[in-house]
Amino acid sequence: MSRRTVEAELPPLYAMLHSGLEPVVADEITRDLGGEVKKTKRGTVIFRLNAIDEDVLTLRTTEDVYLLAWGSDTLTYKAADLKSITQWTAKGPDWKRLFELHRAVRGTPKGKPTFHLVCQMQGEHGYRRVDALDAMAEGLRGKVPASWQPADENAWLEIWLTITGRTAVCGVRLSDRTMRHRTYKREHIAASLRPTVAAAMVRLAGAAPGMTVLDPFCGAGTILAEQIELARRRRAGHVRVIGGDLDPHAVHTAVSNIERLGPADLCRWDATRLPLPADSVDRIVTNPPFGKQLSNIEQIPGLYRAAAREWDRVLRPGGRGVFLVAESVTLRDAVKFHGWQPRQELKVRILGQLATMSVWQKPE
Ligand SMILES: C[S@@+](CC[C@H](N)C(=O)[O-])C[C@H]1O[C@@H](n2cnc3c(N)ncnc32)[C@H](O)[C@@H]1O
Repeated sequence: MSRRTVEAELPPLYAMLHSGLEPVVADEITRDLGGEVKKTKRGTVIFRLNAIDEDVLTLRTTEDVYLLAWGSDTLTYKAADLKSITQWTAKGPDWKRLFELHRAVRGTPKGKPTFHLVCQMQGEHGYRRVDALDAMAEGLRGKVPASWQPADENAWLEIWLTITGRTAVCGVRLSDRTMRHRTYKREHIAASLRPTVAAAMVRLAGAAPGMTVLDPFCGAGTILAEQIELARRRRAGHVRVIGGDLDPHAVHTAVSNIERLGPADLCRWDATRLPLPADSVDRIVTNPPFGKQLSNIEQIPGLYRAAAREWDRVLRPGGRGVFLVAESVTLRDAVKFHGWQPRQELKVRILGQLATMSVWQKPE
């Protein structure tokens, strides 16, 4: 892959993310990439970088990253939008420049370049998704080099139009599926967390080198994998990770997913009776079962209360917990009972389901 960096007159970029994670994504863009956030909307962050190169693909909390061709908040839901889409696509962007930047990030294709046009649309509009796609294709006429071949699968370059209500963004995709799915996930279990969401949780936990991070309901090990990756990227020093799950298959899956990333202490356990000494961990980062994952939602308050008793026992004074749950009131009652203080709360939407990501501190 080419390491060439193109620096003059750089266009903005935009990231797509799980709605609600905007503050965490903005923090990663500014702190880790040195970028400047220009605008955030639910599920989208628009930003600028001083240089556009492969580093943009190191973002962990975003599902996808694109070079911005054009954006608008003025769609009308009426068929007249189609004409606007064609015009915005044809007149505004410097497509040659965007293709050049895409090549700088993704490298040169092995064979002839291939391309694919994609349109995603949410909301009730007076036209179909395929009509919007055709409108974008019309605007692109003569912009894509004639030698490039259209391809439905594994195209080298993708041009996306994403319509959400009145908003539309159009751009060239820089990321591929490995940004959202990672390469470490060899095995999956039902209810496994999205890696970008787990990455947001470990950022909020803010574990420093030398600390110990615990996930008592570790499932496929996504949170611990993201913690290892975050510490490795920061090159600041080792963070010890510990996890377990009641389900032996989940523990096996976590071992298989994490083993190539770094050391982790994983075992089968009941999170309501942890085999760990008091005050032995610095951070607890976890997503306990949501109500609909258990046969009976009535079990949730009892499970959270019993788990919180253990969290309070094993977390050192001043330590922090980061939790992702659907039943946020139940979680709040369980941890407040031990005098923990709320520090931050994000309402997130993950694959259509509403959940709360919250940060708590145990008193010193
Ligand atoms: C929402 S999933 C966690 C998913 C995980 N973060 C991942 O990325 O795969 C909840 C997990 O809690 C486990 N679990 C349920 N009750 C438990 C208990 N009492 N002790 C430990 N684990 C338990 C389930 O087996 C399940 O794997």
